Amino acid sequence: QRPRVLVTRRIFAPVLERLSASLLLDVHDSDQALSPEALRERLAGCDGVFVATTERIDAALLDACPRLRAVCSMAVGYNNIDLAACTARGVLVSNAPDVLTETTADFGFALLLATARRVTESEHFLRAGQWRYWSVDLFAGQDVHGATLGILGMGRIGQAVARRGVLGFGMKLVYHNRSRLPAETEAALGARWVDKDTLLAEADHLVIVVPYTPETHHLVGAAELARMKPGATLVNIARGGVVDDAALAQALREGPLAAAGLDVFEGEPSVHPGLLAASNVVLTPHIASASLRTRLAMAQLAADNLLAFFSGGTPPTALNPEVLARPR
Ligand code: GLV
Ligand code: GLV
Repeated sequence: QRPRVLVTRRIFAPVLERLSASLLLDVHDSDQALSPEALRERLAGCDGVFVATTERIDAALLDACPRLRAVCSMAVGYNNIDLAACTARGVLVSNAPDVLTETTADFGFALLLATARRVTESEHFLRAGQWRYWSVDLFAGQDVHGATLGILGMGRIGQAVARRGVLGFGMKLVYHNRSRLPAETEAALGARWVDKDTLLAEADHLVIVVPYTPETHHLVGAAELARMKPGATLVNIARGGVVDDAALAQALREGPLAAAGLDVFEGEPSVHPGLLAASNVVLTPHIASASLRTRLAMAQLAADNLLAFFSGGTPPTALNPEVLARPR
């Protein structure tokens, strides 16, 4: 009997082909996420599941699905999965780090440039037929080159954004992270570790790249935004909920921020009306990792983990490999 695996969404055909060679697949072939009830029903008879960012895998679901032994996500962020609950029950969890680092950092920089230089706002103006003449300060924005880049969350993606800023744009770099970079990495990037308040006060452009956890919920709220420089920009490529979107909408209206670039939102795909109403914000639908090549690599990595697990091997990017010694 081949292990039964639920694929919770439409993914790429080559990935399904690989999986179906040794697994019995139940594919929810849609971009519309399964409701929690439908997920529980479909998962009840499954040994494994392929997920992305939106499916909630929590203790109640695990208890309703006693056969489930492997939860493999094609996303790097795994705030939708209760890792502790999975580990306690011997359920393997894997995510998809590394393969998306550079692509996601490219997009962080795209958002930073678009935000600081008002790319989308000026395009809307042009398309609306409002362009009458060249003007001395028409859509004049903020410089990126030579400015101070602040990075909140210096993991793999944060470091890749930092390299772009320092090596490509001659930016000065300050960062805040729970742990400091090795001294030689700091030296190579000219990176200065600072506390969060100093980061907020010094950054001309703040890029947020922390994982979403209970500790990072509203890490940037009204008080933090009030500490930022007049004319600063903020970019969030982390997760909705790290930034308080209502407070951000207010800061975009009343200052001190000049502009923001956001790929992730609290309660997405809904977006706070105050953000939708603001012209000084670039809004994108959670696409930072979305180059075709990278999305395929992410899905293949989730498949690698499933295939390794069910063939008795070592899943390459397991988050709790310790459960392999005492599986469910
Ligand atoms: C996307 O948001 C991811 O976590 O991979
Ligand atoms: C602007 O278009 C310039 O030529 O300086």
